[in-house]
Amino acid sequence: MTQLDPHSYTDSEHPKVQHLSLRANVDFDTKVVRGSALLRFAGPSSGALDLDTRGLTIRSVTNERGSAIPWQLEAEDPILGSRLRLSLSEETPAITIAYETSPESSALQWLSPEQTAGKTHPFLFSQCQAIHARALVPLQDTPRRRITYDAEITVPEALTAVMSAGPSGERPAGDGKRTFLFEMPQPIPPYLLALAAGDLVGRDLSGRARVWAEPQIAGAAAWEFAEIEPIIVKAEALFGPYDWDRYDMLVLPPSFPYGGMENPRMTFLTPTLLSGDRSLVAVVAHELAHSWTGNLVTNATAEHFWLNEGFTVYAERRIVEAVWGEQEAALQWAIGQKALDQAIERFGAESSHTCLRTNLEGVDPDEVFSSIPYEKGARFLVCLERYAGRERFDAFLRAYMNRYRFTSITTEEFLVFLEGELPGAASAVDAHAWLYEPGMPANAPVFSEAPLARVSELAAAFTTGVRPELAEWKTFSPSQKLVYLQRLGRPLPAADLDWLDFVFHLNDQGNHEILVEWLTIAAASGYEPAFVRLKEVLIRVGRMKYLRPLYGALGATPRTRALAREIFAEASPGYHGLSRRIVAGLIEKYPKDDAA
Ligand code: BES
Ligand code: ZN
Repeated sequence: MTQLDPHSYTDSEHPKVQHLSLRANVDFDTKVVRGSALLRFAGPSSGALDLDTRGLTIRSVTNERGSAIPWQLEAEDPILGSRLRLSLSEETPAITIAYETSPESSALQWLSPEQTAGKTHPFLFSQCQAIHARALVPLQDTPRRRITYDAEITVPEALTAVMSAGPSGERPAGDGKRTFLFEMPQPIPPYLLALAAGDLVGRDLSGRARVWAEPQIAGAAAWEFAEIEPIIVKAEALFGPYDWDRYDMLVLPPSFPYGGMENPRMTFLTPTLLSGDRSLVAVVAHELAHSWTGNLVTNATAEHFWLNEGFTVYAERRIVEAVWGEQEAALQWAIGQKALDQAIERFGAESSHTCLRTNLEGVDPDEVFSSIPYEKGARFLVCLERYAGRERFDAFLRAYMNRYRFTSITTEEFLVFLEGELPGAASAVDAHAWLYEPGMPANAPVFSEAPLARVSELAAAFTTGVRPELAEWKTFSPSQKLVYLQRLGRPLPAADLDWLDFVFHLNDQGNHEILVEWLTIAAASGYEPAFVRLKEVLIRVGRMKYLRPLYGALGATPRTRALAREIFAEASPGYHGLSRRIVAGLIEKYPKDDAA
């Protein structure tokens, strides 16, 4: 037997599942998805078959004639879940597994009406990356196996279901229910399976783009993302035709643990992007860019995650440069640098978690998620771009996407292809150090400091009493304001924070990047006048990118640690399971309070 992926029980010698037909009923009363998964093989197959599951209750396994197939569910491994072992005694084209998910499914969050914008209907969403698809459907949950799928999802009549697929109709299901039909004809890695159900309306943004959201926020969402079509056009000019038919987006309730998730044909987004000034659209550019890097060319396993995210951050910044200009791109590189520095500090510069190519045997990918594959990966590609020249590098990118479209690849396969297309480039930039060694290589690219100059200068002079005039502050772009706040020292004296909030109204910020940076300074400084807003954000928002620094900063003193524990006790029932686990881990690592 050969294991293909340290995070999956999939065996390279077992039959390949090629297509999934999912029939499922979404039961909000019991918080269970109940139904059946028909798994079709590449051809009639026999012998052993191991599938990934987590928290699933298996009812039966049958072949296409309805005869029972013997199965056995093994004890749960804390990272991988439970192996479902089947044995196909005769040539079998497809099997059907009747099953249900657990109310604690790590792939799903069930929201009460109070957790939604409308407050009257419940909401369900999935998040399958990296290894949670197995908590929704029994399958070969490794990106080395791609599947096409179709689905029939039944939900309460008042709700609309959406998936990472094309809609192919709907019909009444009786008993106050409706069934939505979907088809995904392009083969995807299982982590791109996605489902959501709620009180949703769609607003068309162009002939191929639509944003879905609860009716209460649909107008704001349509306004925020109104400029998506020219962004898609720019991305196509850079990377080739958009291959997924429609580009729709879903704005989720605020407990969604990520900023965005590139589910094909239906990007999932946090509502914290609705800043009212269109300043956070780069996150959408990132998820859109995954349509090429990640969804077309996919990391073979989580150990090659940088191939997804490093390429996508690189692509995102190219889109930002093309749409908003070089200055804005330089600011985004600077904001990314801060995240990279903090990630290296979190693990330590010698830690293997700061390598691009990682070894994750026995490691839960959610536990080691960081900005390293994103920002170090993107910088490695800039190094290659600067060595080859932009024109040659763009040709390389196109060739890479053409060669590997709809496949999953490793870092080592990438290196072989790179050497073929741009001979000598890998050794010229010391690709080995970038990929296999910890920390940042000495030849890390530097970016133009010009658009940063004024805000850096002002931030550096803050402790000497220099303050920006309100009139000048107002001339700064949201990214410049963010960089300014990022560069202020901490903790800061209360009088300084009084001044900042009084003059710039930071507690009233609608832009969550700026708001959270401000609240992080306030938390690290024990600044009480911001605690009400801090608590409001920590209870409402489940985005881990914000929870980590805020709870981290609250770790500074016994008083703020007590506040963090109190807020977490109140907030945690509303958090996604993943956010809850990550925050609990942070609080556990707080220094022990002196037993006085
Ligand atoms: N694919 C990721 C989100 C993800 C990664 C979910 C790993 C689960 C496991 C997505 O494309 C992403 O990177 N989102 C970022 C935004 C981006 C602009 C860096 C986020 O959520 O903050
Ligand atoms: Zn991404």
